[in-house]
This record gives sequence, structure tokens and C-alpha cells, in this order.
Amino acid sequence: MSTGNASSFCCGRKLEHILPTATSISPKSTVEEIDTDYFITFDHPMTKEHYLSFAAYVKSDRVFLNRLYPEQSPTCRFPITNGGKLYVYCIKHGLVVYPDSL
Ligand SMILES: [Fe+2]
Repeated sequence: MSTGNASSFCCGRKLEHILPTATSISPKSTVEEIDTDYFITFDHPMTKEHYLSFAAYVKSDRVFLNRLYPEQSPTCRFPITNGGKLYVYCIKHGLVVYPDSL
């Protein structure tokens, strides 16, 4: 029986683990409440060479994922809930987590 880490594959490619880095480099964010959502704007470039590729709001029992694309606005929406953590992934700087998330 193997006790090693399980590997995950997608479209034939092995998926790598990514761990959140220090929050000192996390882009500044502003949060507004619009209808039943948080509307979040990140202060971050969205060029083809340097952009945010996703933002995720993770709770113990659910995950909300917003895919983001270069040359579009660095914004996303999540349903208003409490107790989750906000993660953002930059293709240059990696994954950051906001400690005092929404
Ligand atoms: Fe970045």
C-alpha cells in the first residue's frame, strides 16, 4: 500500500500544489456590497504578462471561484457570507490569502 501523496491530473497534466505566500504582497482590495453580493476590486495590473487569474472565497463547506482574465477588470463578486477566506492568484506572484477575509 502506498502512503505517498496522491497526484491529481487535469487534461493529462499533473497538477502542482500551490501554497499561499506572505500577505505583504497581496494586492489592495476594496469591497462594496451590491445587492446580495460583495463586489471586490483589486488594485493589480491585468496585462497579458501580469494578471490575476482567479479569486476564490473558501468556506468550510463551499467554494466560490471567479476566473479572471488579462485585459479585463480585476473585479469579482461573491455572495455575502461570513467566515470564509479570500484567495487571489497572480500569475507572477503566486497565491495570496487575505487573513481577515470577509
Ligand atoms: Fe502580481
